[in-house]
Amino acid sequence: MEALLITGNSKIEKYQELLPQLEALWAGEPDLIANMANTAAALMATFQFHWVGFYLVKEDALVLGPFQGPVACTRIGFGKGVCGHAWQAQQTILVPDVEKFPGHIACSALSRSEIVVPVWSSEKSPKKAVIAVLDVDSEWENHFDETDKAFLEKLCFSLSKTI
Ligand code: SME
Repeated sequence: MEALLITGNSKIEKYQELLPQLEALWAGEPDLIANMANTAAALMATFQFHWVGFYLVKEDALVLGPFQGPVACTRIGFGKGVCGHAWQAQQTILVPDVEKFPGHIACSALSRSEIVVPVWSSEKSPKKAVIAVLDVDSEWENHFDETDKAFLEKLCFSLSKTI
């Protein structure tokens, strides 16, 4: 198993290098938790985000899954916080300033901006549904943009194909 190799300086270059390396890490591994764990570690190693991880849909709540960063809230209700909102809206939510997002759940007082991306069920699943969300938090306001949205959505789509 090779270590990650990221040489690019720009955000786009880093994502472009990271995605194929993640796909190689996931190759042949159908366990979602294992693949999410390596994804969180790889994103943290590449970008040094404040917090990056997954919440899994379990009945009527999102439950904390693999992550990197400070300890976090374990359960988030449907429609609650940015994560529950992304689950309900079934779309990516970009929050440039968490203080301006009504109902934002502050797991860490240091988090200033965030992006939450839905993870969909695999193409093999009989029912298309959001099965998890990827949450990325930054200590800097306005940290995430359309580049993060595009690459993180691509990443979550590729991840869903592994299961
Ligand atoms: N801020 C998120 C909660 C999760 S933690 O930040 C890790 C939210 O509002 O849903």
